[in-house]
Amino acid sequence: MAGALRLQLLLGSRPLGYFITLEGPDGCGKTTQTALLVDWLRAQGHDVLQTREPGGTSIGDQVREVLHSLRNTEMHPRTEILLYSASRAQLVHERIRPHLARGGVVVSDRYYDSTLAYQGYGHQLDLDALQQITAFATGGLKPDLTLYLDISAEEGLKRRQRAAQAGAEWNRLDAYALDFHRRVRAGYHELIAAEPARWVVFDAAQPVDALCAEIVAVVAARVPQP
Ligand SMILES: Nc1ncnc2c1ncn2[C@@H]1O[C@H](COP(=O)(O)OP(=O)(O)O)[C@@H](O)[C@H]1O
Ligand SMILES: [Mg+2]
Repeated sequence: MAGALRLQLLLGSRPLGYFITLEGPDGCGKTTQTALLVDWLRAQGHDVLQTREPGGTSIGDQVREVLHSLRNTEMHPRTEILLYSASRAQLVHERIRPHLARGGVVVSDRYYDSTLAYQGYGHQLDLDALQQITAFATGGLKPDLTLYLDISAEEGLKRRQRAAQAGAEWNRLDAYALDFHRRVRAGYHELIAAEPARWVVFDAAQPVDALCAEIVAVVAARVPQP
């Protein structure tokens, strides 16, 4: 038993740090809350790596451009999934695992649950295949805690449209039909039901500051002391 544990530590299959991901439908406030949470964690003295998907590395940012470009409307969902997974593999191996191995905290704006929700439930691709591709890309690295910001598809879309009118990016995924976004949200709810210990659900319709206070309270109770 002790030998097996030592071997696991040597192989680095369970990093020392703490890995937090934020998930939820488009417009729920992930990017806003990621920045606030990272500020709070740093103020507490944590060594934080803030990252996002797709992207987060030089190679991953190039893949992100391909994924988000409005020119790429003919992209097949299978292509989409492999591109997300390619970006994720690079991010995990180049940045996330090394940071966790140093004992740091990683906060990622989306991770593989997005693939399961968007490609699995949204596009209705084979979930078992997606789980296998995901496990290969990440080497099996799971978040310690996933914060789910819940909002209706309609409200999420309204927020993204308002933001786009004010000059924010309107990308290829934003252009999918409302039905697709409804399936994504229902998919997230299934993922949460299947693994309730890893997820905490928040009402993302509340004001930014109130939501941030709830998130900080949950993280403060779980993240190890710096
Ligand atoms: N709690 C909130 N209430 C109202 N608007 C919000 C809230 N959180 C974020 N927004 C706004 O909604 C839009 C989408 O937020 P963003 O953080 O980019 O969401 P996501 O990254 O989940 O798509 C932005 O214009 C943002 O300013
Ligand atoms: Mg965002």
